[in-house]
Amino acid sequence: MDAVEELHLKTRSSKAWIETVLNNFDGFLKDHADCERKASSMAMSFVAKYPDRKEIIPELIHTGIEELEHFRLVYRIMQQRNLTLNHSIGEDQYVKQLLKHCHSNREKRFRDRLIIASIVENRGFERFKLVSDYIQDEELASFYRMIYTSEAKHGNSFAKMAALYFPEEEVVERWNELEAIEGAILESLPLKAALH
Ligand SMILES: [Fe+2]
Ligand SMILES: [Fe+2]
Repeated sequence: MDAVEELHLKTRSSKAWIETVLNNFDGFLKDHADCERKASSMAMSFVAKYPDRKEIIPELIHTGIEELEHFRLVYRIMQQRNLTLNHSIGEDQYVKQLLKHCHSNREKRFRDRLIIASIVENRGFERFKLVSDYIQDEELASFYRMIYTSEAKHGNSFAKMAALYFPEEEVVERWNELEAIEGAILESLPLKAALH
C-alpha cells in the first residue's frame, strides 16, 4: 500500500487564513471543538451505514474515540478561557460541497466517502500544523502538535481503508481528483477563524 501512504495535499492554506485564526483564536477554538465532535460522529456514521464492512469497524471505533478525546481536550482549553460551545452550528459548507462529489453508485459512494474522509483529515493535519507553527503560546503549540500528528494518522488510515476494498491505483486516482476539488472549494469559501 505504498502509493496510498504517500498521498498528500497539493494545495496549501494561505497566510491570510492563519492570520485570521490567530486574530480570533477564541473563535477558532469554538469551531475546532465542533469539528472534533463532528469527526467523531463521522467515524461512527461509517459504522452505522456500513455495518457489514467488518474489516474496518475496529479502526473506525478507534478513530471515533480518538476524535472524541480531542473534543474533550479542546473543550478543556475552552473551559480555562471561559468559552462556551456554539449554540447552533451552521451548515458546514466545506463538507457539504465535498460530499456532493460522491459517486451515486453505492459501492463507489463508499469509496468516495472514505477518500473524502482521508482528504478532510489531511487538511486538518495541514491547518493544525500551521496553528502549531505560528502560535506564540508554547503550551498551545505543543497541544496542536499532538493534534496534527493524530490527524495525519487518520488521513492515512481512511485511505488505507479505501485500499482494502478498491484497487490501489483507483484509490490514488480518485484521491487526486477529489483533492483538486477540495482545494478549489477551500479557496472559494470566505476566510473565517475556523478550520474550514
Ligand atoms: Fe481530531
Ligand atoms: Fe482526525
